[in-house]
Amino acid sequence: MSASRERLLAQARRGVAHYRAGTQDLVDEVYEEPAASYVDPDRWALEMERVFRRLPLVIGAASELEEPGSYLAMDMLDTPVVAMRGDDGQLRAFVNTCSHRGAVVVSAGPGSARRHPCPYHGWTYNSRGELVGVPDAADVGELDRSCLGLTPLPCVERAGLVWVHLRPDPVIDIDTFLCGYGEMLEYLGLGDCRVVGRQPIDGPNWKVAYDGYLDFYHLPVLHRATFGPDMSTRAVYDWWGPHQRLTAPDRGYAGLADKAEEEWEDRELTGGVWTIFPHVSIAAFDAHGKVYMVSQLFPGPTPDRSRTIQLFLHTRGPEPGQEEAVAGRMAFNLHVVRDEDYATGLRIQQALRTGAKQVVVFGRNEGGGQRFHQFLDRLVDTDDADLPAMFKDAAGG
Ligand code: FES
Repeated sequence: MSASRERLLAQARRGVAHYRAGTQDLVDEVYEEPAASYVDPDRWALEMERVFRRLPLVIGAASELEEPGSYLAMDMLDTPVVAMRGDDGQLRAFVNTCSHRGAVVVSAGPGSARRHPCPYHGWTYNSRGELVGVPDAADVGELDRSCLGLTPLPCVERAGLVWVHLRPDPVIDIDTFLCGYGEMLEYLGLGDCRVVGRQPIDGPNWKVAYDGYLDFYHLPVLHRATFGPDMSTRAVYDWWGPHQRLTAPDRGYAGLADKAEEEWEDRELTGGVWTIFPHVSIAAFDAHGKVYMVSQLFPGPTPDRSRTIQLFLHTRGPEPGQEEAVAGRMAFNLHVVRDEDYATGLRIQQALRTGAKQVVVFGRNEGGGQRFHQFLDRLVDTDDADLPAMFKDAAGG
């Protein structure tokens, strides 16, 4: 049996045991996080530099960038980025800025094109990012076009997702960063899914938002008007370095409790919420097949703001006539996250700014949030040279 399936089984066994006992994972202590860490501009700047600018970030789904000429452009933090599949089949990413006078070349969104003319004066790049056209070239003068392509950024595919480093000189490779989690994410089959939509949501400080993806404690209360009444507060956690998966003992494992372990199928073992540090959460829903919501959380231009792209992937298509169910799921998730989670988060942000509270509290039942903040504290204190070793240690522990 593969180590990854054994890992899924181990979490399922713990989940079934918790289901039978009516218990959940608890950590040893209550944890207090300084409230200032959500509002302090210096801390936020450090996080941008030491977290978001030196770790790989998910730009989108690999299935959307399969064909030669396919591309995806979006702002990642304040950097305009474009990923594209070259006519040679290679996936590349670039800073999406023209070598002439800096205009953003490719408009935001997915698409397909072999040539990308800059909207300002028409300098044109091919799908390898090379400068291949300069209008009125004789009047512009002599140029070394070989030095005037788009500026490359490191770009890599794993588990059906595409990651980009915002620094041209990455200090950590994707596999060290993933701590073995990439192999687990493969079980979701995202590489075989089709992108069926994306929708943005503005929210609070990125950590206020991310905390919400790491606990089930709030589900029956905050979401009492939507799906909360069907949920329990209990969670089972597994983690690979800073990447964590949460499952619910009651909903996730009730169906396994009466079956022999040999009958547990992969699809029954892969539920719950899969987070990818520092900015992604993946959850699955039924809608004529399975719909995955990949939430890409990016800090905004200031410490008190963030923007999340909800990217939806469908396992089958869906079939003609079934789009309505997918659209309904997207509308529901938009409502829940925007009007319940992030509306609450924006009020938290406002309240934390008052300074009335010195700390926020994570209970023993909120181990996910505790691990997130404790890892983050170590990460911002770790120099570039020590970063790979830090992740290797975390993977082993
Ligand atoms: Fe792009 Fe001038 S800025 S062609």
